[in-house]
Amino acid sequence: MGDEIRVPIDSDADIVIARQQGRALAERIGFSATDQTIIATAISEVARNIIKFAKRGEIILSTTMKNPERGVVVVARDQGPGIVDIQLALQDGYSTGNGLGMGLPGCKRLMDELEIKSSKGKGTIVTMKKWTT
Ligand SMILES: Nc1ncnc2c1ncn2[C@@H]1O[C@H](COP(=O)(O)OP(=O)(O)OP(=O)(O)O)[C@@H](O)[C@H]1O
Ligand SMILES: [Mg+2]
Repeated sequence: MGDEIRVPIDSDADIVIARQQGRALAERIGFSATDQTIIATAISEVARNIIKFAKRGEIILSTTMKNPERGVVVVARDQGPGIVDIQLALQDGYSTGNGLGMGLPGCKRLMDELEIKSSKGKGTIVTMKKWTT
C-alpha cells in the first residue's frame, strides 16, 4: 500500500500503459475482473483528455485503505488550459473538443469518487477512487 506508480502521458501509447498499470494494480489489491476493466476504462478516459486538451501530463496510481476496504486512487494531472466550468464539464454531452462529452461523466459513474481541481490557465487535476466493496 502507499506505493505510487507514475505514468507520464505524452502519446496514445502512454494511454495504453496507464490502462495496463491500473488494471494490474487493481488486480493486486483484489478487484474483480469486471472492476479491473471499469478502472482501466476510467483511466483511459482521463489519459485521453490529457492528450486531447493538454498535450501532456501524468497519471499517478496508488492504493489506499479505509478499513476494511481497499481502494485504488487515480490522479490525472496536467498543466494544460484548465477547465473553466467544472460542473458543465461533468454533464453528459458537454464537449469543447468535438467529442461525445461522455468521458468525465462516464468516469463519475464508473468510479466511487471523482473530484476535479482546475482553473483557466492553471491545468487540471482529476482524482478518482474506487473501493473494493
Ligand atoms: N485535462 C483537461 N484539460 C482541459 N479541459 C478538459 C480536460 N479534460 C476535460 N476537459 C474539458 O471537459 C470537457 C468534457 O470532457 P469529456 O471527457 O467528458 O468530453 P470530451 O473529451 O470532449 O469527449 P469524449 O470524452 O466523450 O470523447 C472537454 O470537452 C473539455 O472541455
Ligand atoms: Mg474525454
